[in-house]
Amino acid sequence: MVSPTGCPVSERAAAFTPFEGDYQLDPAEALRWARAQEPVFYSPQLGYWVVTRYEDVKAVFRDNILFSPANALEKVTPLTPEAAKVLERYNYKLERTMVNEDEPQHMERRRLLMDAFIPEKLEKHEPMVRELTRAYVDRIVDRGHADLVKDIFYEIPLTVALHFLGVPEEGVEKLRRFAVAHTLNTWGRPTPEEQLEIVENVGQFWQTANEILDTMIADPTGEGWMYDTVREHRKHPDIVTESYMRSMMMAILAAAHETTSNATANAFWILLNNRNAWDEICENPALIPSAVEECLRMGGSIVAWRRVATDEAQVGGVTIPKGGKLFIVQASANQDAAHWENPDEVDIYRDNAAEHMSFGYGAHQCMGKNIARMEMRVFLEEFTRRLPHMKLAGGQRFENLPNISFRGPSHIHVEWDPAENPERRDP
Ligand code: HEM
Repeated sequence: MVSPTGCPVSERAAAFTPFEGDYQLDPAEALRWARAQEPVFYSPQLGYWVVTRYEDVKAVFRDNILFSPANALEKVTPLTPEAAKVLERYNYKLERTMVNEDEPQHMERRRLLMDAFIPEKLEKHEPMVRELTRAYVDRIVDRGHADLVKDIFYEIPLTVALHFLGVPEEGVEKLRRFAVAHTLNTWGRPTPEEQLEIVENVGQFWQTANEILDTMIADPTGEGWMYDTVREHRKHPDIVTESYMRSMMMAILAAAHETTSNATANAFWILLNNRNAWDEICENPALIPSAVEECLRMGGSIVAWRRVATDEAQVGGVTIPKGGKLFIVQASANQDAAHWENPDEVDIYRDNAAEHMSFGYGAHQCMGKNIARMEMRVFLEEFTRRLPHMKLAGGQRFENLPNISFRGPSHIHVEWDPAENPERRDP
């Protein structure tokens, strides 16, 4: 077997699949061999060049001209003709948003829409996150057990995201269903039968997003990032285009909370499995911001992202042909021994943890990174204060929605003795 450039494909490269097995369990571990022996390889099962080392992942992110993000939201599994018909019926047209836009349009748009993300503007969301977290913890604190994902980590980031976007509270269950369908549709490998069910939900998602946007367009005086977008569209329709608004409304309804829910769940999973680190942040909450960063390194919620080479290029000494698609695995970069000391250890004192690739890098680096960091910090501050004695319930496995990019446990069952709650001992 040979790659598109005619080079032989090794046995391990030929066997690599990100849709199941080891990669789904632990992507960094699954690519340990590649970081050591074949850091850039062609995966025939995926049809992409897989990039695994820190320096190469960063270099690809850095050059968004040679490595265009145009394929970032491309469906990794082609639609069957039947599924395509369903989406046509819904008039589905997800096109360029921000994350998959090329220059110069991308940066012109990003600049016009940056305001809501500046730190002073973000500060005003923190009290809401804290109040919500306190209210949700109140509900469970005397219960002695919880599923953190189901009870808390899904709903709060969703509520915060809707508030940030200016979207009225939509049904949680419905949006959850839509977001799962969008993930599987874009980054999963559903069977033809599964595709039919998924595209119905994706079509409804598109419709719902458009209805919300139409209400905003009819009266664009509200507060929130999507209202800003509608107003900027009026002033600069050729930069903040109609197609952008429609595509972004749907994409961000999923991206703004799924990523944060998953990253928070990953952080709790990591810290509760590394009890010393958990105990240390309970003792000393000043360590929480660096624990957040270390958890983003070890358990970022986007584990891989995509680019396409606009010309022949070299990555880690390997020639990528023009049009070659790249699968850049941030989770692997985040545990590359060439960049990190003791890469597989959770070390909340690590001074360079913020160099992780979980938010991407360069011109497209995540705009919402500081919202996510703030939410994760507040969750940890509230839980370590009120339930420091919380423990993972036994016999759990990390179960993830099978897909190539988004990662987070579907459940985290925890338990504690309510008689030991600090607030009972020290009212
Ligand atoms: C882009 C990760 C939360 C909005 C991205 C990218 C990644 C990412 C990997 C692509 C970066 C690149 O191509 O270089 C994450 C993670 C999050 C998170 C891990 C949570 C832990 C959020 C939130 C928002 C958001 C809460 C909005 C409220 C965006 C936007 C872009 C983006 C608008 C496109 C930026 C551009 O292309 O210029 N994010 N994200 N993200 N993210 Fe996030």
